[in-house]
Amino acid sequence: MGHNLLKGKRGIIFGALNEKSIAWKVAEKAVEEGATITLSNTAMALRMGELNGLSEKLNAKIIPADATNVEELEEVFKQSMEVLGGKIDFVLHSIGMSPNVRKGRAYDDLDYRNLDKTLDISALSFHKMMQAAKKLDAVAEGGSILALTHIAAQRTFTGYNDMADAKALLESIARSFGYVYGRDKKVRVNTISQSPTLTTAGQGIGGMNAFFDFAEKMSPLGNANAEECAEYCVVMFSDLTRMVTMQNLFHDGGFSNMGLTQAIVEDYIEKK
Ligand SMILES: NC(=O)c1ccc[n+]([C@@H]2O[C@H](COP(=O)([O-])OP(=O)(O)OC[C@H]3O[C@@H](n4cnc5c(N)ncnc54)[C@H](O)[C@@H]3O)[C@@H](O)[C@H]2O)c1
Repeated sequence: MGHNLLKGKRGIIFGALNEKSIAWKVAEKAVEEGATITLSNTAMALRMGELNGLSEKLNAKIIPADATNVEELEEVFKQSMEVLGGKIDFVLHSIGMSPNVRKGRAYDDLDYRNLDKTLDISALSFHKMMQAAKKLDAVAEGGSILALTHIAAQRTFTGYNDMADAKALLESIARSFGYVYGRDKKVRVNTISQSPTLTTAGQGIGGMNAFFDFAEKMSPLGNANAEECAEYCVVMFSDLTRMVTMQNLFHDGGFSNMGLTQAIVEDYIEKK
């Protein structure tokens, strides 16, 4: 049951691919909380077909866009304002992809054209999204824009590869654009740094299952799952957080402030 936290609000959710996607859960939760939304993903993701089910269930139009393409992003904002009947109150950027990770290229053997793609898809797309929205004056005053990130932006995790650099850039864009958007339009911009989550993108990261298990044991509350992440996103979209901007917010069960837990010590001793 919802709390009407987003009653009357209009939102755009980028990046729902299948039921496991964090964006999928955010879309469901946002509608449950009273919002009307549109959905966007690449033409290739749409061909996989699963998004149609979510679109029907939530009565949410799908507007295809490659998030690296400014014209297509502009179209998402224009059509969303038309379909939803006014300016947009919240936007979720839940997009990430590294061709280097996909192709198993090691960090000291990167293909630089792939690196350009990683950064463009996973980080610059956030800038493109906000620049397109701001030029169109598509986001309402007090609006909330979120992107999902990971602690590999601050600390090095084996296997995270060039996605770590993309996340560092993403978080920097959130701060820089957060200043400009806040100053000019009172729109807030934040990133949520989520626990490892078993999604399509998550499972592409090398050693994901080990990291998932490690983070679970290294976090006093355990790993946060996709539904819990969606709940945090909804709070960040709501008016309850209207003075929060330019922040990287950890949603990780305490992982980011832990050094060593008893659970890890016991695990280590057991395996020795
Ligand atoms: N899964 C995790 O462990 C984890 C942890 C922290 C942060 N995140 C972040 O959460 C976000 C969502 O990932 P997820 O785990 O739900 O996986 P997911 O695979 O369900 O979502 C990734 C989405 O990115 C979309 N995408 C890829 N290229 C695109 C492009 N060019 N244009 C538009 N969309 C494109 C995909 O179609 C997909 O919908 C990502 O930014 C990811 O880095 C994930």
